[in-house]
Amino acid sequence: MDTRDLKRLLSGMSLREKIGQMIQLTGMYFDEEAVLTGTVGEVKPEEWVIRYAGSVLGMDGADKIRAVQEKYMEEHPHHIPLLFMADIIHGYKTIAPIPLGQACSFHPELVHEAAEYAAAEASSEGIKATFSPMVDVSKDPRWGRIMESFGEDPFLNGVMGIAMLEGYQGYGSIGGARIAGCLKHFAGYGAVNAGKEYNDVELSRRTFMEQYMKPFRMAVYADPAMVMTAFHAVDRTPVSKNRELLEEILRGELGFGGTIISDWGAIGQLEEQQVASGQKEAACAAAEAGVDIDMMSPAYMSHLEELVEEGRILESAIDRSVWRILQMKNRLGLFEDPFAGMKRSVCLSPAAKRGALRLACESCVLVKNEGILPLDPGQKVFWAGPYIDSREFLSRWAIFGEHADVETIETVLKGRKIPVKLIPGCEILSEEEMRIWCAGDGKPVEEGIQGDRKDVDWQKQYAGVEEIREDDTVVLVLGEHEAQSGEAASRAFLDLPERQAELFDMVARRTSHIVTVMISGRPLDLRRIAERSEAILLAWRPGTMGAQAIVRLIYGEESPSGKLAAGIPWCTGQIPVSYWDMTTGHRMSEADPGNRFCSRYMDIPNTPLYPFGFGLSYTEFEITPPQMRKEGAGEEERICVSCRVKNTGDSSGAEVVQCYVETICAPVVRPAKELIRFRKVFLEPGREREIEFAIERKEFVFYGEDMEPIDGGIPLRITVGNSSYNAAGSVDFTVGGSV
Ligand code: GLC
Repeated sequence: MDTRDLKRLLSGMSLREKIGQMIQLTGMYFDEEAVLTGTVGEVKPEEWVIRYAGSVLGMDGADKIRAVQEKYMEEHPHHIPLLFMADIIHGYKTIAPIPLGQACSFHPELVHEAAEYAAAEASSEGIKATFSPMVDVSKDPRWGRIMESFGEDPFLNGVMGIAMLEGYQGYGSIGGARIAGCLKHFAGYGAVNAGKEYNDVELSRRTFMEQYMKPFRMAVYADPAMVMTAFHAVDRTPVSKNRELLEEILRGELGFGGTIISDWGAIGQLEEQQVASGQKEAACAAAEAGVDIDMMSPAYMSHLEELVEEGRILESAIDRSVWRILQMKNRLGLFEDPFAGMKRSVCLSPAAKRGALRLACESCVLVKNEGILPLDPGQKVFWAGPYIDSREFLSRWAIFGEHADVETIETVLKGRKIPVKLIPGCEILSEEEMRIWCAGDGKPVEEGIQGDRKDVDWQKQYAGVEEIREDDTVVLVLGEHEAQSGEAASRAFLDLPERQAELFDMVARRTSHIVTVMISGRPLDLRRIAERSEAILLAWRPGTMGAQAIVRLIYGEESPSGKLAAGIPWCTGQIPVSYWDMTTGHRMSEADPGNRFCSRYMDIPNTPLYPFGFGLSYTEFEITPPQMRKEGAGEEERICVSCRVKNTGDSSGAEVVQCYVETICAPVVRPAKELIRFRKVFLEPGREREIEFAIERKEFVFYGEDMEPIDGGIPLRITVGNSSYNAAGSVDFTVGGSV
């Protein structure tokens, strides 16, 4: 629809019709089988709200969506199409690894491709918008949603957020098979205090504006259709009523012109946060702050009309919000075709599964290998653990994925005729853990009753372990249940589930030749596992093709190439720990490791167990120290950093060359170092390649003591290497000065 006609449509709408566009309802008001991703609470929409609601979340199924759309448009006075939205976080039917795993691939092109397949699959079934990518910088693995983020680094979150957004939307336009993307949760949700879900956030303005806003500043240039407001407050003002954040920074400074949607119930929640005396005041505060869509709270539906009639909210403000929503629907082509993109299902195509397999392989991170991997397929080994015959490779955020589409490791091994002895050993969770985690069907399981679960004879489960001899090799595939990560899944302990820890101990008492494959939605406390494993491969939640990826890597059909997008803490007590923590005084010196009087814990080392950016390969690489030259002058100045990377081993593989910037001295304390570029390079044995990074002057700008931007004149250091803790060399320079 052209702009003139769209404006004419808006001008002909009644106030209720306009307010309807600003309300998003869960699909259950249209289809009882819709997926619920929040609590319905006090939301009791009147008939006009259902008839005029602008968008629906959580519905799927082409036939249902088509039927609901046809009925809705027939009854709508201006026949404005519904926009069907959903949480397509890491795939629709072809499930890719969780975003944290995708980030570990350090391969944005594969992330882009997986998002394209997700968009095509969802769009073919009528879903035209997703609440993804989530770009919340996450340094605390106690927070279950770290799985949904791209990890602890601001720059990596930004790069992967752009890749995913452009995969969903196409380059700067949405249309055809494309779906609307949504940057979330604006902003800083990954810093929830103590990693506790839905908790508040305490960040200095500087850290918030520099590190936690960085991925949003980067990704807003990919033209997201939507930005979602987070639940928490920023400097004590909840985001959904934070005018400075939404109007001045997001729309003003960053130039975001799309639709701002609240998180589920976040507007109504302002009352619970005690910053609104009731739903009417909550609605007023959010509308004044510029939140365009109220997702599933009573506020807008119950009070926006009267607020306009009372003159507290101008109808022109309503028109601005509705205009943005109509433009989003228009960019999706819904006015020309309310079923845009819907066609015979394209789900689970061979190409999509190939892409998911590649991404799953490159997402896995080999953090330890004392020569035991890769295994020889002719060698008879044991495969043990609950994941060898499980399909639980998806996640709580794979809401439309089907376990039936997931092959088990057992099936893959038998399909390849690899001689193995299988010992499932135990369930993923004990009965008590099943109850705690509302596992199984996702509903709280009553005390002592495990749904349809029968009493399990745990000793019988361990049958087969007694056959393991001390020179046998055992591949143990262990890890979290799907229910143990994602939203509403914060953990105070990061240990293996109890039965699996018992199984590990039983195996470790019989042999030292253990390869541990870890399935998880977060970094876990691996210390005890690491001490008694000769190799550890972190597979995260690897998605539909997870089993194939794990078998391929274990048997060396390809080399692991993933790098940690979130470091693995030494223990839970060390959290939060990050490579970009601020520089401190009393710094621990390697020259005097026994010194008590330094910034440390006395009972553990001062470094993570495995740091950000770390990951092993089956081959070896050498990276040369960086060279630097400058180009341009003034604001156009940029520095060019180059180095060479060589495969010095005897098999092919990939290295991720990482480029970090350190501040040598500044008026304010700065992060110890910050990732500023990376490149993944695939090389055959003996081959080498030159890498060059071009970095714009403005990328080195940071806030001074009075929050004024400091641009130039500060001594800086660039290091390159293959992890945040392993530099091949460095070069000092000053932007606006000499190298
Ligand atoms: C949830 C999540 C958000 C999600 C939304 C819709 O509460 O916080 O990430 O997109 O509701 O399901």
